[in-house]
Amino acid sequence: MLHYCVIGFPVHHSLSPKVHNAAFRSCKIRARYVKEEVPPKELGNFMRSFREKYAGANVTIPHKEAIIPFLDKVSPEARKIRAVNTIVNQDGLIIGYNTDVDGVPSMVEFAMSKPLRSSHPIIIGAGGAARAVAYVLKKMGVRPRILNRTLSHAKKLAEDFSCGFGKLDDFKRYIPGCRMIINATSVGMFREGSSSYKRQTPLPGLLEFLRRCPLSEPKPVVLDIIYRPRMTKLLRDAKKAGCRVVTGDLLFLAQAKRSFELWTGKKTPRNPIFSKIQRP
Ligand code: ATR
Repeated sequence: MLHYCVIGFPVHHSLSPKVHNAAFRSCKIRARYVKEEVPPKELGNFMRSFREKYAGANVTIPHKEAIIPFLDKVSPEARKIRAVNTIVNQDGLIIGYNTDVDGVPSMVEFAMSKPLRSSHPIIIGAGGAARAVAYVLKKMGVRPRILNRTLSHAKKLAEDFSCGFGKLDDFKRYIPGCRMIINATSVGMFREGSSSYKRQTPLPGLLEFLRRCPLSEPKPVVLDIIYRPRMTKLLRDAKKAGCRVVTGDLLFLAQAKRSFELWTGKKTPRNPIFSKIQRP
């Protein structure tokens, strides 16, 4: 029996076990995928036992960058992004990859029919997920602007990818002229034992701003990397203000498929869990 896990803190929200366990069953692979809630201080200890215990893993908030020093090897792409969301234990060699990048192009292309180059996208957040989005947009020839709660984190990411940056409040300055906003923070994500996530958004005041400020059409498309809930407070606000929205399940499924291929060498089967997640 092979063992896989998702490493995060918190990790309750993750649907990865559902998706991967179903995929293993469909492919008749004897494997089990579980959640591992690992506080940041425990990450080193956890990774010391990982080699013996697990054949592979996904990595989620807040460990995508912090995990790198505990790996034996990192793929060239993940090294450039400086964020890892997938680990393969290849006969004792622990290798890190980034499969978030596989989902970003389809999500962005789905969102924009207009030329991306003139979309002046805003990325909200400056963590590992934001780094993957910034990397892909840059590869697609687009320079995003990074807005983040902690300005120094935004500045660091912006320097690495040669783009503009600012604080979250600056959205009012940059939204006019912007055709795409991508949330790459965990604000608004499902939390077990509380319903307050339903009221949380990284851009409080967005709805009022969009209603008050006469923007030239089309209004920006708003994308969220969060897939649980599908309709986050950010997306609900954007929709109420007349914006198109794109939910995070496209990205989630694309990264999951690529992780599965890296672990097993097989394509993910067309299993009902994969299609169920795409429904509202
Ligand atoms: P990941 O690697 O999955 O992207 P991360 O590295 O912990 O996770 O990054 C989380 C992002 O969400 C960061 O940009 C973080 O902002 P800071 O750089 O200020 O920490 C952002 N974030 C998390 N909680 C937030 C909150 N309550 N309000 C605004 N931004 C938040």
